[in-house]
Amino acid sequence: MRDTVRQWIREARRIAVLTGAGISAESGVPTFRDAQTGLWAQFNPQELATEAAFRAHPQRVWDWYAFRREMIAKVAPNAGHLALAAFQQRHPGRLALITQNVDGLHQRAGSHETIAIHGSILQDQWLDAARPCCDAGALQAGRPPRCLVCGNLRRPAVVWFGESLPVTALEAAEEAANACELMLVIGTSGVVYPAAGLALAAHQRGARVVVINPEPTELDRVADHCLREPAAQCLPALLEH
Ligand code: APR
Repeated sequence: MRDTVRQWIREARRIAVLTGAGISAESGVPTFRDAQTGLWAQFNPQELATEAAFRAHPQRVWDWYAFRREMIAKVAPNAGHLALAAFQQRHPGRLALITQNVDGLHQRAGSHETIAIHGSILQDQWLDAARPCCDAGALQAGRPPRCLVCGNLRRPAVVWFGESLPVTALEAAEEAANACELMLVIGTSGVVYPAAGLALAAHQRGARVVVINPEPTELDRVADHCLREPAAQCLPALLEH
């Protein structure tokens, strides 16, 4: 199986990669939907990852993201992140990396042109449209911080449930999915849209799709191959020179 996929990687002029929480699992970042350890097994996403939840309980939601930020700051990119970054450096412009992850581990591994379609947990933005008084450099401290003048809250720059994806990132991701000859779908359950739709689009355009995941996923049905392996063990072997 691996050899066939290695051959497809060698042959493909344009490769798109779609990653999810599973690629960061071996770094120690919990996934979302793992039955025991997943974040959504421990926390209710409707109470923590929606705008309504933030407006209702800003401190609770802010603290939860602060807890995740601290956890992410303590971990490092793994061999899977590093193998993708190294391939991109060896073959500039051949591999477009689309991630659902907000942890910044691809970027820390050296994948500087990562298309982060769900935003970044490492950045903040204004909750409401910024007014002339809203100065991110002069905030009233607090959890969350707010505008000194109008009280506009700062919120994590991530895409919450029910929110649209950042337009520029989504357009770049769709372009990559529509232009690739091969898509590697790594560490995602494939249940969240429009992200999962990128793999369907690539498949419909005739690209080969390879799923890399120790468990079955919703996207196996469009896969030409499924490698039932952890990403950090599989990717170095697949992408090495
Ligand atoms: N290597 C590869 N895949 C793995 C590994 C590993 N070491 N460990 C776990 N996985 C797989 C799991 O089997 C699962 O299919 O990673 C997948 C993680 O799925 P989810 O927890 O559903 O995460 P993801 O698909 O990224 O979620 C999508 O949902 O909660 C929202 O916005 C959030 O971006 C997230 C989106």
